[in-house]
Amino acid sequence: MPAPEEPQPAVGIGRERQFEIYVGGARGSYPTVPVSFERLERGAQKSMSREGYAYVAGGAGTEETIRANRAAFERWRIVPRMLRDVSVRDTSVEVLGTPMASPFFLSPIGVLEMAHRDADLAVARSAAAEGVPFVFSNQASRPMEETAAVMGDGPRWFQLYWSTSDELVASLVSRAERCGCSAIVLTLDTTMLGWRVRDLDLAYLPFLRGRGIAQYTSDPVFLEALHETLQQASPPAGRISLAAISTLWEMAGSYPTRRLEGLRSGLARAAVRRFVETYSRPSLSWDDLAFLRERTRLPILLKGILHPVDAVAAIEHGMSGIVVSNHGGRQVDGAIATIDALPGIAEAVAGRIPLLVDSGVRSGADVFRALALGATAVGLGRPYVWGLAAGGAEGVREVIRNLRADFDLTLGLAGVVSAREVGHDNVTRV
Ligand SMILES: Cc1cc2nc3c(=O)[nH]c(=O)nc-3n(C[C@H](O)[C@H](O)[C@H](O)COP(=O)(O)O)c2cc1C
Repeated sequence: MPAPEEPQPAVGIGRERQFEIYVGGARGSYPTVPVSFERLERGAQKSMSREGYAYVAGGAGTEETIRANRAAFERWRIVPRMLRDVSVRDTSVEVLGTPMASPFFLSPIGVLEMAHRDADLAVARSAAAEGVPFVFSNQASRPMEETAAVMGDGPRWFQLYWSTSDELVASLVSRAERCGCSAIVLTLDTTMLGWRVRDLDLAYLPFLRGRGIAQYTSDPVFLEALHETLQQASPPAGRISLAAISTLWEMAGSYPTRRLEGLRSGLARAAVRRFVETYSRPSLSWDDLAFLRERTRLPILLKGILHPVDAVAAIEHGMSGIVVSNHGGRQVDGAIATIDALPGIAEAVAGRIPLLVDSGVRSGADVFRALALGATAVGLGRPYVWGLAAGGAEGVREVIRNLRADFDLTLGLAGVVSAREVGHDNVTRV
């Protein structure tokens, strides 16, 4: 045992994780989920339904934007610096008062039940254990109260879709406040669903099966309106096919009463109908933001910003941050890659509010490059869903730990000791 005053060799999370894996191998135990992103996705695919995999993996149209997100990262190269004593590294950042153990958070992903039955709860447990913020989706599979309850003090934000009912918007936001969420992320890019070819080919949309609507079916405002819908609802017309019966059965399984009761009362079907009527608000405009600003004391971030002029407008409308995002290529096919949009937005924003970015982040090098181009932190999307599908909460935890380790090593090997010090000098465009 070294004397307490003797300096301990700093290892950092990167080296700890590497050695854990290598030493495990020497003893005959191997990572529970693949470390490589490609193998992780292939493994996840095997454990998911055809529809579930298509829903998560797919994008809009020809999926050009999914590819563009990756290509944009790959055009930026890290230029490592040498002899800079990188033995002690600090990967933490803080965004709007929320501490992040590493400069990334889990982006909001709806319908996680398609990856694993523990869905949001599994993700929440793992995020909290690693000190990584989890952004609860408006389209979650579990009510935010249940998800928050498994997180202890773990950092969390709430992502909002602005529905046709302002009353519902206000209700969701006040529930998020009570759940300990420390920011609201308003997603702007999904006022309508993009043209998602994989889902269209399978004629499958999870919400129409009652999946991913738990924030609604647990909301008092939604439930009140639901009873009105129920009174107007007519029984399904004409002959009912076997497929329709199976859909009704699926809907009832997702409704938070006993399955038979949900079916018999008509509530499960009415909830889906009411959701479809409420969900989308294409008329949303900048003037609406004042309503939200008045309803909460929490910082509000706008997700889906891709143009510098919109970024400046966000500041002018009292918004506290921006998530530069193209929704993982799921909305506008041919949209600009977020890493291509980031430098112009960073210049326009000039450090006035934090800039977050997601879409295409797959490695520690991607996190590093995003920080170099002006992001304060990045959002992780599909990779944690693949971890969830492959190994439940443990799978998510492995994905998070691997990304934290990968970033820590990339940071040090690039010659930088703090996530806050990564700058434009550390990268070059090829
Ligand atoms: C299956 C799936 C569901 C998603 N659901 C939501 C959602 O409910 N709300 C939201 O703001 N973004 C949602 N997104 C977008 C993510 O928050 C994030 O922007 C995107 O996944 C980033 O791209 P990447 O996964 O390729 O890294 C979803 C993405 C996927 C893949």
